[in-house]
Amino acid sequence: MKLGKHLACDPAVHRVVAIDGPAASGKSSVAHALAKQIGFAYVNSGAMYRAVTWHALQHAISPGDSAALIRMLENSCIDCDFEDNESRILIDGINPAEHLHEDRVNDEVSTVSSIPRVREILVAKMRAYALDYDLVMEGRDIGSVVFPETPYKFYIDASPEVRLRRRVAQGRRDQIAARDHADSSRRASPLVLADDAHVIDSSNLSIEDVVGEIISRLKIKGMIR
Ligand code: DC
Repeated sequence: MKLGKHLACDPAVHRVVAIDGPAASGKSSVAHALAKQIGFAYVNSGAMYRAVTWHALQHAISPGDSAALIRMLENSCIDCDFEDNESRILIDGINPAEHLHEDRVNDEVSTVSSIPRVREILVAKMRAYALDYDLVMEGRDIGSVVFPETPYKFYIDASPEVRLRRRVAQGRRDQIAARDHADSSRRASPLVLADDAHVIDSSNLSIEDVVGEIISRLKIKGMIR
């Protein structure tokens, strides 16, 4: 049975606000601030793909060698939990948080996240979070694949120039155009705009503006008062 069915009828599965969008669209800052404001736990699904990518690189496994990568993953202990209401991933007991935005991870994460079995393993972990917590989860396919039946879907976009400027302001080197292309054109769960997602162009908006717009929509939908 698809998890979406559970969402509709199983009280054990909690509410999920899905926030998707391309790289550097502002969705992480927005999702993080939103979760804090409405008291939901925050899950950064991109960090999960980044953690697996880092782990593979640490073990000298080429991200292009999907068989070796899957073998590594199936023999690793992946713990997904929360620290201060924010998702945390430990692989074989190691928390790679400080390495997740290294250049080599930026360069390889699209390749790793295009492997269907990697997605299967991590999507199961993402869904498991909702068994115990109300979530704000950000990513590329949260509204389209991970929680397709949540009624709370948002797609945050921004112009390519603004997104590039944001990365530079963060002091990060990231080939966002190349990553966007790879993330949107891959066969397994590409970045797509879910039909029922509410689109927000954040190019000329502050984080507070975007969070405010989302909260207004959630109120209209009766999720919060
Ligand atoms: O959000 P981010 O830039 O940290 O994500 C890193 C990569 O992970 C991104 O290039 C695509 C992949 N990703 C994905 O395929 N599906 C998700 N739900 C989240 C991220």
